[in-house]
Amino acid sequence: MSTSPASDQISSMMHETRVFSPPPEFSAGAHVKSLAELQSLRTQAESNIVGFWEDRARDLSWFKQWDTAFQWKNPFAKWFAGGKINASYNCLDRHLGSWRRNKAALIWEGEPGELRTLTYQTLHYQVCQFANVLKSLNVHKGDVVGIYMGMVPEAVIAMLACSRIGATHNVVFGGFSAEALRDRMNDSKAVCVITQDGVYRRGAFVPLKPAVDQALSQVETVKHVVVFQRNPDAEISMTIGRDHWWHQRTAAVDGNCPAEELDSEHPLFILYTSGSTGKPKGIYHTTGGYLTQAAYTTKVVFDMRDDDLYFCSADIGWITGHSYVTYGPLMNGTTVLMYEGVPNYPAPDRFWDMIERHRVTILYTAPTAIRSFMKAGESHALKHDLSSLRLLGTVGEPINPEAWIWYHTYIGNSKCPIVDTWWQTETGAIMVSPFPGATPTKPGTATLPLPGIMADVVRKDGTPCEANEGGYLVVKHPWPSMLRTVFGDDERYIKTYWSDFPETPEHIGYYFTGDGARKDEDGFIWIMGRVDDVVNVSGHRLGTAEVESALVSHPSVAEAAVVARPDELKGSALVAFVTLKTNADTTMPMNELKEQLRNHVAKEIGAIAKPDDVRFTEALPKTRSGKIMRRLLREIASGNAVTGDTTTLEDFSVLENLRTADDE
Ligand code: WTA
Repeated sequence: MSTSPASDQISSMMHETRVFSPPPEFSAGAHVKSLAELQSLRTQAESNIVGFWEDRARDLSWFKQWDTAFQWKNPFAKWFAGGKINASYNCLDRHLGSWRRNKAALIWEGEPGELRTLTYQTLHYQVCQFANVLKSLNVHKGDVVGIYMGMVPEAVIAMLACSRIGATHNVVFGGFSAEALRDRMNDSKAVCVITQDGVYRRGAFVPLKPAVDQALSQVETVKHVVVFQRNPDAEISMTIGRDHWWHQRTAAVDGNCPAEELDSEHPLFILYTSGSTGKPKGIYHTTGGYLTQAAYTTKVVFDMRDDDLYFCSADIGWITGHSYVTYGPLMNGTTVLMYEGVPNYPAPDRFWDMIERHRVTILYTAPTAIRSFMKAGESHALKHDLSSLRLLGTVGEPINPEAWIWYHTYIGNSKCPIVDTWWQTETGAIMVSPFPGATPTKPGTATLPLPGIMADVVRKDGTPCEANEGGYLVVKHPWPSMLRTVFGDDERYIKTYWSDFPETPEHIGYYFTGDGARKDEDGFIWIMGRVDDVVNVSGHRLGTAEVESALVSHPSVAEAAVVARPDELKGSALVAFVTLKTNADTTMPMNELKEQLRNHVAKEIGAIAKPDDVRFTEALPKTRSGKIMRRLLREIASGNAVTGDTTTLEDFSVLENLRTADDE
């Protein structure tokens, strides 16, 4: 943790205190109907956390019951050890014996407008077929399989096929670059990559396969690539012996593939996410505990019912796409609407148009999307009949009260409860959120920890904060869907999450989230954002160190410091302060070099990581011990006057140059 939660952030978030109670008609039909009912669940969980989660685990289908519900070897957890379970079985097979067999599991809409519906039965068949394809390519239980795809049903099929045979999937967001893919495949020692020719995005067909080819030229472990054909007219190159067409391989196998009976702690997936060093972390999730919490939270937070049509706009490449497009909803037998493209193509009303046409009942999206809808104007939403909606959700970053109110008024027609859900790639599933039929909501707070989740706001010394005192968000008891480690790096796992609030004679260590927060007088948690060097740009999680190391890999750059500044639309924007090498080409116009550097970052990581501003400076402000003064840079980047103690600055003139640097 490098900065402490600032009190001005607190006061700016306190101005909105309107309380929205769940509409009585919603509560009447909800899984959890009142605050009293929720409180009693919470009390029950607090008296026996493990027992509470065991009860939730019993809602899943187990091949064999667990022997030990919870084991803790500080800070390594095991949940439901000895139990045998399969994720794909829980998402598919368990519905086949009921009327849900013919229920739509996925309704997919391509960006150009095609529609496909897969029932639980047909999805099961295709998953089994594809699992057989993987087997035919020598993919075994315990192998890691990379998935680099867009939002097509085959991405879900690929994930479920992996979990069916006990292969561990490693999904890489399709917007990441070849370099990012290469690093993730190497780090996880993937043996196979599943991809597609390309995706439709903003009206264009954007190729994906060339990035795979480029990445794999520097990956030795990957032996096979399966390519889903999205566009028969696209010309792509296939490497003989390594690359296989999805449709050809599936045509050659049958649809019988029993689900492997896997240990509860069998690795279900690795998902890389940004941290405070240059190297992304492989967040390692296992099966039984993850599924338990993903299924339970989907049911109670989205109040999922059999007649719902649930639309989660997250990409499969992020944790939300894992837990709340794929596993959570399918375990609940939900019908999921999956959409391939961008929200504003061909027009800013694409989402509203889809909601009207499909009669979506639940929408789960990100504050950054809501802010851009807000900017485009409510007229786009008002053109459509959105009356089918009954519940709205948000995730990924703090939602500003203005955006919350707009979402509530224009999308929710002032009647839909909003669930502001706080969680992380590491937590695997939702941790802090309203229960829509029970919890009164206030715009801007994710409200209360779920029953069985001991989230709290504490001081640096681990003691609980007073009401409205800014502090650090921690979790005081391990939970079922928590990460088990950082893949291949237990040390980093311990250091990042378990070192700030270590074990004491009184309590086990606290998990540190990296977020600053406060609890108000009602115990509601207000997230104030990251206190480490992780930034949320448009709901995408980025490490400033990662962007810095991308910048310094450019031949002209000597040193770089990347900080965030607030941005109305994106939440945060990235500002890069760059010092050039003395031998850098100074004949190039500065604007051109800035563009070159931004594109270089896009090439190294992906377009989402492009700095919004690049500012050149002769030197970076540093403390006497040589640490870059990031607080200072953040203030300069935000355009605030420099305040505070700067006496440890090495070179005061640096400051002056930075402030006056041409930054058009
Ligand atoms: C932030 C996304 C405020 C937070 C599921 C967290 C939020 C990081 C919220 C994790 C929320 C997520 N309110 N902030 N409702 N949800 N965050 O791993 O800073 O991509 O630590 O997981 O997003 O981002 P990640």
